[in-house]
Amino acid sequence: MQITKEEEAILNGKKGNAAAKSMKILVALGEIYGAKRLIPVSSVQVAGVSYDNLGDAGLEYLAELAKDGQVKVLTTLNPAGMDLQNWRNLGIPPEFAVKQEKVIEAFSRMGILTTCTCTPYLIGNLPRFGEHVAWSESSAVTFVNSVIGARTNREGGPSALAAAFIGKTPEYGLHLAENRKPDIQFKVEAKVESLPDFGALGYFIGKKAEGKIPYITGIKGGDVDKLKSFSGSVVTYGSKPMFHIEGITPEASLYEKPGESIVVGEKELKESYQALNDAGVEIDFVSLGCPHCSIKEIAEIAGYLDGKRINPKVELWVATARPTKLMSDERGYTKVIENAGGKFACDTCMVVAPLKGRFKNIATTSAKGCYYCHGKNKMNTKLGSFQQCLDAAVKGKWS
Ligand code: F3S
Repeated sequence: MQITKEEEAILNGKKGNAAAKSMKILVALGEIYGAKRLIPVSSVQVAGVSYDNLGDAGLEYLAELAKDGQVKVLTTLNPAGMDLQNWRNLGIPPEFAVKQEKVIEAFSRMGILTTCTCTPYLIGNLPRFGEHVAWSESSAVTFVNSVIGARTNREGGPSALAAAFIGKTPEYGLHLAENRKPDIQFKVEAKVESLPDFGALGYFIGKKAEGKIPYITGIKGGDVDKLKSFSGSVVTYGSKPMFHIEGITPEASLYEKPGESIVVGEKELKESYQALNDAGVEIDFVSLGCPHCSIKEIAEIAGYLDGKRINPKVELWVATARPTKLMSDERGYTKVIENAGGKFACDTCMVVAPLKGRFKNIATTSAKGCYYCHGKNKMNTKLGSFQQCLDAAVKGKWS
């Protein structure tokens, strides 16, 4: 990979230790993937924020970088392992909270915005079509590539941080137009309407796409909330972090439909639901907001819960970004949800919080959430609509 004189000087330590380390990571990545050069990025999203995933080794690594590392572009953080203000209410152990706060302090010293969310595009980190960014959260990466048409590879935490310190990333993979073409077509004949329908569809397509870019036809609607749910699910279950939907996503019309095609009928959708539903009827945890809830989704939750009570055996989390919660406070939705016994989980979610062993059966609207709740937190799952999940929260049972 060709590097400029200035980039070489950074590599040799002219701009300090963190910048030199970062340049080394970017050059190594560029050489592995055959990039010709580094290109500027306009924003970065850093994953790997929860102390539950980082541990002490990760914390030390960040503290070292924070000594002289300063981000060069708008940089936001993925969810942390706890609500940074209200962690006690979520039952997070104090010893965990101390470590998590140190992680956030390190990121803050680097100049990163410490609003922790996987939907940064809903709170001000919104690239435009064609812009190069370096993001590292799978649902967010898939959303900006596909729904917005910005360009990013699926970065790891360290490579995203390196891009933030340098303001550049190696030009390979999804930064190049030729790698954004669809490989396989999915003809959707099933009725795909609700939020969990989009998640279940993502499950099916992700599994069948196996590292390819899907081109999807037959989808009639799909607002931002459904597309963010689909983005989380399709990549989790196996596609590249990019998809095209005919008539909906901005790059779909730029490419020929791939010849190879798979039909998704009612049977396939039903089987996808069945694969994601292994909890019994007893529910002890309901978590909504994976990816993090929009204000529209919070309004829907409050509308359902108005005047109801959550079953005392159930914990309900509404996971969202803190700025979205502030809007919810102002509109009175927070009060309605908390009066019903629900809890807001800002800055975090049911996957990155240290919940292993605490709950057995979760109800959620998120197919992505089902995957990680099974794998990481050892829960059984029910996938359903807001109404079905909230109904389970009130009754303590899945109907
Ligand atoms: Fe976001 Fe956590 Fe889901 S990071 S996409 S809410 S697993």
